[in-house]
Amino acid sequence: MIYENIVLIGFMGCGKTSVGKILARQLQKKFKDVDSIIEKEQNSSISDLFESKGEEHFRQLEQKCIDELAQNRGQVISTGGGLPAYCTIPDNSLVIYIETGFDVILNRLSSQERDKRPLFHDETRAKALFDERIDIYKDKAIFCVDADQSIQLIVHVLVDFILDQRVL
Ligand code: S3P
Repeated sequence: MIYENIVLIGFMGCGKTSVGKILARQLQKKFKDVDSIIEKEQNSSISDLFESKGEEHFRQLEQKCIDELAQNRGQVISTGGGLPAYCTIPDNSLVIYIETGFDVILNRLSSQERDKRPLFHDETRAKALFDERIDIYKDKAIFCVDADQSIQLIVHVLVDFILDQRVL
């Protein structure tokens, strides 16, 4: 299989964006972040979008965004935590699961960061979502990296793996 893009998946706060930016730089690829693209295109924050147009509309925007990104190659694409549960990830994507424990996520996300995420306002609900999604992430991923470690180590493991693959 020749992969056209690298797609990072995982729960809110697992570090997809931070890992993706460094990974893209090291691999000399472009970095794309689905949530940021949607916010820019819609001229609205994710929270406001959820409130004004609803979650279902947001999921359609996610699908459209990832489909459009798949028109190009050689990118590291960071997705929102719900994308793998609601959208089809384009074929020829090297899907990588950034795996963390829920306790690590709780430690990493400041209250400001939680406020930005409508599905993280209620911690009990967030934990239930986390439990529900683990199998989806594992199922869709070609490779899992343990992200309960330093970002340098995570990127190191990923670069090692990716360089062994055929990625455009
Ligand atoms: C969501 C995750 C968020 C964002 C939206 C919904 C989810 O992205 O797409 O708030 O359903 O898990 P992050 O994973 O970057 O926080």
